[in-house]
Amino acid sequence: MTLNGRRVVLGVSGGIAAYKSCILARRLTESGAAVDVVLTAAATEFVRPLTFEALTRRPVLSSLWERGRALSHVELARDAELIVLAPATANLLARAAQGIADDLLTAILLAAEVPVVAAPGMNDAMFAHPATQANLTTLRERGWLIVGPAVGALAEGPSDRPGRMAEPEAILVQAERLLRAAGSALRDRHVVVTAGPTREQLDPVRVITNPSSGRMGYRLAEAAYARGARVTLIAGPTTLEPPVGPDLVRITSTAELCAALEQSLPQADVLLMAAAPADFRPAERSDAKRPRADGPLTLSLEPTPDVLERTAAARRPGSVVVGFALEVGSGLTRAREKLDQKRLDLVVLNRVDEPGSGFEVDTNRITLITRDGHEESELMTKRAAAEVILDRVERLL
Ligand code: CTP
Repeated sequence: MTLNGRRVVLGVSGGIAAYKSCILARRLTESGAAVDVVLTAAATEFVRPLTFEALTRRPVLSSLWERGRALSHVELARDAELIVLAPATANLLARAAQGIADDLLTAILLAAEVPVVAAPGMNDAMFAHPATQANLTTLRERGWLIVGPAVGALAEGPSDRPGRMAEPEAILVQAERLLRAAGSALRDRHVVVTAGPTREQLDPVRVITNPSSGRMGYRLAEAAYARGARVTLIAGPTTLEPPVGPDLVRITSTAELCAALEQSLPQADVLLMAAAPADFRPAERSDAKRPRADGPLTLSLEPTPDVLERTAAARRPGSVVVGFALEVGSGLTRAREKLDQKRLDLVVLNRVDEPGSGFEVDTNRITLITRDGHEESELMTKRAAAEVILDRVERLL
């Protein structure tokens, strides 16, 4: 519940993408925010207020003239911490840019003194029109954050120009970042996260790797971005959807991971080393594919460089370095040794043999080990575990 008790006005104007705003209303509510949905008259033609009322469990407003709710625009503007507009139609952007307040939503926009995130959604020609572009420039200059629009299919057919509203996930990420950055020690800090396995090539078609999915690192990158950090995510081969916000650097081998880290570490305030580098690589790489008919194959493997050790010299003084230890059995002693040997500020211990923890699952039970002692967590989602880890990193900063 990263947005517990936060107050958000979700303004929905009359475009077909209004149906996607239902998902946004739901996700904001699930994050703990109190969401007041305000519909323009045109929006009520696309989605019924009752839908939003059921999703947010709060009254939904659309008129300035509702009896018993006089001055509701002033109250909503005063209580909100953030206004999200999705979809923001060309008409809504035009009225907002001009300061017109002829319905509840535009009256709130004029009365509010809080950040605004707008997700334009409209026909591609309407978006490209100089009037719309000029209005967007005006609104950006006033501090509005504009998310999207994306290029892709419109309700009226395929398109190769921007117009389609950004996906709810992309809007949510920016809304969360605006709400959370102000209170976070990670705001404007540079956080480098490594994630996923590395892959060592045996021959052109065979590799040595491990089953790391990259999930823990990806959730850490998302959570750090939501706290206002500038995030570089260095990721080994994974099939995960790239997170919205962080800069993604793709690597394959452990040597490439070292090289990528050497580049980004000198600017980093925090390193979260969640990657699972392959610990061994073939002593010799064959350029030809060895036929199976040749019979048994004996491999000679050499240890890969310890990335954390190799890159230690590139660390910025005062930066916080977090290592991860995947152990079978308690592993506390071994994890403490890693804290010292690798000169880490924090080790996150994971047990592979515990139900719900380890590779390829969405949950984790972690133990945080610092020089002052250790703390064990409950079984939780990897995203929640990421929040626990970052709370600790903020204290270390
Ligand atoms: N790590 C690293 N370079 C490697 C292997 C691991 O920098 N070649 C990092 C991991 O990203 C992790 C931490 O070191 O943050 C601990 O990883 P782990 O595999 O548990 O430790 P190892 O040092 O490989 O120790 P061992 O395999 O002997 O337990």
